[in-house]
Amino acid sequence: MNYIGLIEKYRKYLPVNEKTPIVSLCEGNTPLIQAKNLAKEIGFKGQIYFKFEGLNPTGSFKDRGMTMAVSKAVESGSKAIICASTGNTSASASAYAASAGIKCVVLIPEGKIALGKLSQALMHGAEVLEIDGNFDKALNIVKELSTKYLITLVNSVNPFRIEGQKTASYEICESLDKAPEYQFMPVGNAGNITAYWKGYKELNNENPKKYGLPKMMGFQAAGAAPIVEGCPVLQPETVATAIRIGNPTSWKTAEFARDESKGVIDKVTDEEILFAYRLVAKREGVFCEPASAAPIAGLIKYVKKGYFKDVQNLQVVCILTGHGLKDPGNAIVNTQKPKKVKSDINEVVKAIGF
Ligand code: F0G
Repeated sequence: MNYIGLIEKYRKYLPVNEKTPIVSLCEGNTPLIQAKNLAKEIGFKGQIYFKFEGLNPTGSFKDRGMTMAVSKAVESGSKAIICASTGNTSASASAYAASAGIKCVVLIPEGKIALGKLSQALMHGAEVLEIDGNFDKALNIVKELSTKYLITLVNSVNPFRIEGQKTASYEICESLDKAPEYQFMPVGNAGNITAYWKGYKELNNENPKKYGLPKMMGFQAAGAAPIVEGCPVLQPETVATAIRIGNPTSWKTAEFARDESKGVIDKVTDEEILFAYRLVAKREGVFCEPASAAPIAGLIKYVKKGYFKDVQNLQVVCILTGHGLKDPGNAIVNTQKPKKVKSDINEVVKAIGF
């Protein structure tokens, strides 16, 4: 059968029935790419894989949750959805709403959303409201609004989002024929780490001998690391705008995933994030957005400090949550400008340095 999206593939694991109208853009089924060059570069003897979620239809992992959230919203008769977003949720929500033929309202923090993401929400015809406050403020507004008006909230407080997003763990286990020993991922509002852990546990409960469980290694940006600091951050700041969040909704379940899996939630600086961001683009040919480079920065940090034992047999998966093209602004300012050359073959040869 042709692949027609994650709800059809994982139907038996998801809260859908024959009456649920499936709204899908064929999300999921993303590749697990082995990063041999990175392993060599950082001196890691085990296997590193990238789960490249940037290859979902709107360029981020949010589509996994949104196919579920929007299908269930339509099933319940909802004619409109709403979300707060650092960018990717708004891009995904507006695309799925367009496909379902319902209204979409998105609240975004003014001036702090990557250009690609903003262009998506606008192109898909969402009502885009820029607020003079950060993501946390926007989220409080949409939470309250959705309790007072007939509009469905599609942030990850919506449990169907978590259900859809957990399918990425199934795919990883299918690809490796087991769970990896470690999973590195970014943490923002903390829905995704909650979802992955749920997925791994469900599969492991079915067949513990086969799958096992990974240690969940979550990374926040140093300027937006409430879980690491143990208190909300009022003015979160980071180059990784996707995870510029000071008071995550799924804080407790993220801590639960960390503790139950015997993993860690730690922070990486913007400098470390940008280093990892350029490194994987240059050495692996994989272009992810800055937030997605946070777990790679985390992996580099943990390799450097000798965290891993019995490295030979380790499989580590990094979740690259969003595509690099989402945020062309950061790519341009963090690389060298193109050289200006006259339209003359000799000048071109000189510039190449042949
Ligand atoms: N990576 C990317 C690319 C994201 O867009 C987000 C969250 C995360 C990681 C963190 O995931 O919130 O589940 O811990 N973006 C949200 C948004 C907040 O509005 O697009 P999380």
